[in-house]
Amino acid sequence: MRLTVIGTGYVGAVHAACMAHIGHEVLGVDVDAERIAALTSGRPPFFEPGLSEMLRKAVDAGRLRFTTSPVEAAWFGDTHFICVGTPQHDGSGVADLRHVEAAVDGLAPYLHDSGYERVLVVGKSTVPVGTADRLARRLNAAAPGAEVAWNPEFLREGCAVQDTLRPERIVVGTRSEHAEARMRTLYAPLLDAGTPFIGTDPSTAELVKVASNSFLATKISFINAMAEICDATGGDVLTLAEAMGRDSRIGPRFLAPGLGFGGSCLPKDIRAFTARAEELGLGDSVAFLRQVDDINTRQRRRIVDMAERLVGDNFAERNVAVLGAAFKPRSDDVRDSPALAVADEVRRRGARVRVHDPEAVDNARAAYPALQYALNVAKACERADVVLHLTEWPQYRELDPAVLATVVRTPAIVDARNALDPVAWCAAGWTLCAPGRPRLG
Ligand code: NAD
Ligand code: UGA
Repeated sequence: MRLTVIGTGYVGAVHAACMAHIGHEVLGVDVDAERIAALTSGRPPFFEPGLSEMLRKAVDAGRLRFTTSPVEAAWFGDTHFICVGTPQHDGSGVADLRHVEAAVDGLAPYLHDSGYERVLVVGKSTVPVGTADRLARRLNAAAPGAEVAWNPEFLREGCAVQDTLRPERIVVGTRSEHAEARMRTLYAPLLDAGTPFIGTDPSTAELVKVASNSFLATKISFINAMAEICDATGGDVLTLAEAMGRDSRIGPRFLAPGLGFGGSCLPKDIRAFTARAEELGLGDSVAFLRQVDDINTRQRRRIVDMAERLVGDNFAERNVAVLGAAFKPRSDDVRDSPALAVADEVRRRGARVRVHDPEAVDNARAAYPALQYALNVAKACERADVVLHLTEWPQYRELDPAVLATVVRTPAIVDARNALDPVAWCAAGWTLCAPGRPRLG
């Protein structure tokens, strides 16, 4: 099939490469000419394991091309995926749909003479319920007969290729049998491999996405609330999470207590869902999401306070080493990164902060130019009064605490992700604090 992918960011670039990989002819479209030039030469504009190989192969095989031209996109194929960003409006939780509307408006005038009879525009961006139907009316004003379907994306950064090629489900909301049949054909290689297909209407598809992210966010905030209770009562949140997670009705995943969730999606998605529900007069139904958000933001302050206590309640003149800048490991994405929010608050309170991250330093520097950055862990930790472990990259777990103890001024660490082995660190002379756990050393 010939399809376009409009918006070639984290979702679009991966989707375009994977659709070409399963045999389709794909045209990737973006307004960012630099991004298009990089992708054309087979270079992804961000770090995502496995993407660069797949991209190169698809480009070399001639199944994947890129352009900035909406006309070329409209004439290339009959199925157009919309993968542009839906950020949060400044100062409110409401989703900003400007890019989605611009993507549809860009295609619309050229669709009638594209030569294709039944054009299908498929949204993958995360949007408030009701968006697909509204876009369909907007699209039909210029391109009568063109349909809009919604096919929400569930990939996680860091394993986006695997999540796209072997998703746990494909959800597609359509208003016609023809559109659903086309989507089944498009995804046939994945469906043949056993991926469940859930066909529904566009509104339900839009809701599945925001409800899923809200549930994941709630699970994380639930365990972080338990960490707060453990801190006050001397309990151990890791044991609690393990014991809860062994109940198969609860399950162990997304019960990792610590600094909480960040990134470009969970925080903005729960706020946009709340805003949309309020708009519909249904604010009470999702009022708990405000608490989920509050618990989450509170964890950042808790970690800063924990670190401040370790340096004698005053950050002035203190050196603070920060391990991790990305919002999660295996990603260079720093959008709403809890690690950088903590690092910057510590700097604001008077400390000299040096940040290390294996992949995200360039993005971090662009977002937080006032912080200092180190090329390696030893440099970040040189003469540190406290080390903050904020993003749980696997390589930080492999650090030798005895070696690092010789570099710092005081062997004190906050393990904000509950990912280090406290016994090993304390045996090497460190004081280790972690949310929801008794202080050791
Ligand atoms: P992103 O910011 O990385 O990429 C968006 C891309 O769209 C950019 O390259 C931008 O230049 C381009 N763009 C903007 N306006 C355009 C237009 N009119 N025409 C063509 N291109 C345009 O965003 P992302 O992280 O890939 O997220 C995209 C959507 O998918 C969002 O709604 C997000 O909530 C959702 N989502 C993201 C993830 C994720 O892990 N990042 C996962 C699932 C769903
Ligand atoms: C999340 C969802 O997992 C994806 O299914 C969804 O497609 C995506 O949002 C989206 O809509 O954009 P992602 O943001 O890539 O994916 O990352 P996650 O692995 O979900 O982690 C999100 C945040 O939660 C990270 O900051 C992570 O550190 C934190 N987290 C995760 C915890 O604090 N505890 C946990 O137990 C799990």
